[in-house]
Amino acid sequence: MKLHDHVREWALGYIREGKYSPVGVWFHWIMAALVLFQLGFGWAMSRVPVGGDKLAAYSLHSQLGLAILLLAALRFVWRLFIPDPINDADAPGWQSTAAHVTHVLFYGLFALLPLSGWAMWSAIQPVAPLRLAGLVAVPAMPFHTLSQEWQFYVLAWAESLHLWGIVGLSLLVPLHVGAALKHHFWDRDDVVIGILPEIEDDQNARDHARYNPQAG
Ligand code: HEM
Ligand code: HEM
Repeated sequence: MKLHDHVREWALGYIREGKYSPVGVWFHWIMAALVLFQLGFGWAMSRVPVGGDKLAAYSLHSQLGLAILLLAALRFVWRLFIPDPINDADAPGWQSTAAHVTHVLFYGLFALLPLSGWAMWSAIQPVAPLRLAGLVAVPAMPFHTLSQEWQFYVLAWAESLHLWGIVGLSLLVPLHVGAALKHHFWDRDDVVIGILPEIEDDQNARDHARYNPQAG
């Protein structure tokens, strides 16, 4: 059996039990934390007066944003190979459709926000190179070859896409979290349990029972 078959089988062991795999779980919580931070920090950053502090804030904001783009791409590839678990709430109906649409929109926004941010920086020809998570230099998109007028259009478009993305996220996050809380406390089903990390003892015991590369 090849390595990726082992990995898939390991992840499907969790999915069959109605849980996201630890990879899916950590993608979810790391990205949720980063995206929420970006929303709050981006808003605070826009209120800092022009100067050194503002530039430092822009720099941190773009470094984290580009890290979100990389994580989103990895998460998307993971998601193509590993389906989401079927849980109690997956009966056909508008709620399942709404949940599915929300997840697709989230993935779209995880790409739109960093790409529009990157385009904004590229249209103003950044003074310092952009860096992914502060580590890897990321080149500007090639807008410097355009006329000044077009650079201005790109900047204006990218800025409004960024703002629409922010509006979208700010609407979707409370809807999504509200739905999760409703499932957990009102319907008392297993939806939220499926995305929570497993407790160590529980996990060890179940890994033995679950992991069987010969099956499936
Ligand atoms: C998921 C990722 C991101 C989120 C959630 C996000 C969120 C935000 C927020 C909330 C603002 C403040 C808007 C305002 O109040 O005016 C903002 C502004 C900004 N963001 Fe992002 N951002 C993300 C990624 C990025 C990336 C990757 C870059 C650059 C490479 C970037 C560049 C900018 C810039 C330049 C502004 C200032 C725009 C202006 O002043 O009009 N963002 N962002
Ligand atoms: C307290 C906060 C949160 C809770 C309780 C929560 C809960 C959940 C639950 C229970 C699921 C699984 C739904 C299902 O299987 O149908 C899920 C999936 C998802 N959540 Fe959240 N979430 C939270 C915050 C966020 C935030 C802030 C974002 C976006 C930045 C987000 C993005 C997603 C995405 C994209 C999925 C789909 C996962 C996939 O299929 O790959 N969540 N969340």
